[in-house]
Amino acid sequence: MKTMAKQFLHVKCRNSAYPGTDGQIIRAFVPDHQVCWTTFFPLYNPVTYTSPSVIGKPWADFHLDAINFKPIWNIIDGKINRVSYSGQYKIQNGYPLNPYGRTGIKGRGVLGRWGPNHAADPIVTRWKKIHSQQILHTDTGQPVLQFIAIQRKDSREWAIPGGMVDSGEVITSTLKREFMEEALNSLEKTEENIAKAKSEIEDIFKNGVEVYRGYVDDPRNTDNSWMETVAMHFHDEKGDHVGKLNLHAGDDAIGVKWIDLNRNLKLFASHISYLELVALRLNCHW
Ligand code: BGC
Repeated sequence: MKTMAKQFLHVKCRNSAYPGTDGQIIRAFVPDHQVCWTTFFPLYNPVTYTSPSVIGKPWADFHLDAINFKPIWNIIDGKINRVSYSGQYKIQNGYPLNPYGRTGIKGRGVLGRWGPNHAADPIVTRWKKIHSQQILHTDTGQPVLQFIAIQRKDSREWAIPGGMVDSGEVITSTLKREFMEEALNSLEKTEENIAKAKSEIEDIFKNGVEVYRGYVDDPRNTDNSWMETVAMHFHDEKGDHVGKLNLHAGDDAIGVKWIDLNRNLKLFASHISYLELVALRLNCHW
């Protein structure tokens, strides 16, 4: 199943303080009916904010007025993917415009790239079992699915163990790398243990199914920088590959565990919506 991005109303990047600023940077209020850039909003005058934490970082762009920084929008610009899954985005006074509309803040916030910032999300699942017996939910009678979630260091929210696509990196590599770093703590493992973990996940990661590709309603988005992702589903039907791995949080994660899937989970950014697509795919309890 392949779900291309549908335009929805972003909410997590509106009408709140900007994350990581201790409430110091407040987004301008944007009512639902004025999100769209084409709606008349003469009083719209948001603050500009780019976090000091991105300035000068090797993974980040420069200020748009920096000499010698000449990004080329809407294409793969050298090794940097400036293409949006939502189609061609507009440039206004030299700044890319968020394709999902106003966010109440200009600049890059904590995001490195002007325009799209690309991520990839591996959704790893197995059936919930007790003594090898598959568990059916008492309300729906449907099998209960479990997925691997990590707890993010930045917001403390539970999330899919995804991450940013490095420049020039292919998405399949990002998916495996992020999963290994965040859910298996590969960064602190010996070469030998990394090789073992790699071979264990290799089979499962060969058979992924794309469930979402597009814009993310992420709390870090701004009018000029936003998150996009590709979410891939990897299911361990028998639970004898990744289903048996020893989970160990690492890198940007401070916790990792299998979580029973259900519609009421509160997860980071748009992650619950990709899990809904997974539930539909496997016809499990949701
Ligand atoms: C996260 C991904 C997420 C993306 C967009 C990244 O920081 O690691 O899991 O999908 O942001 O919210």
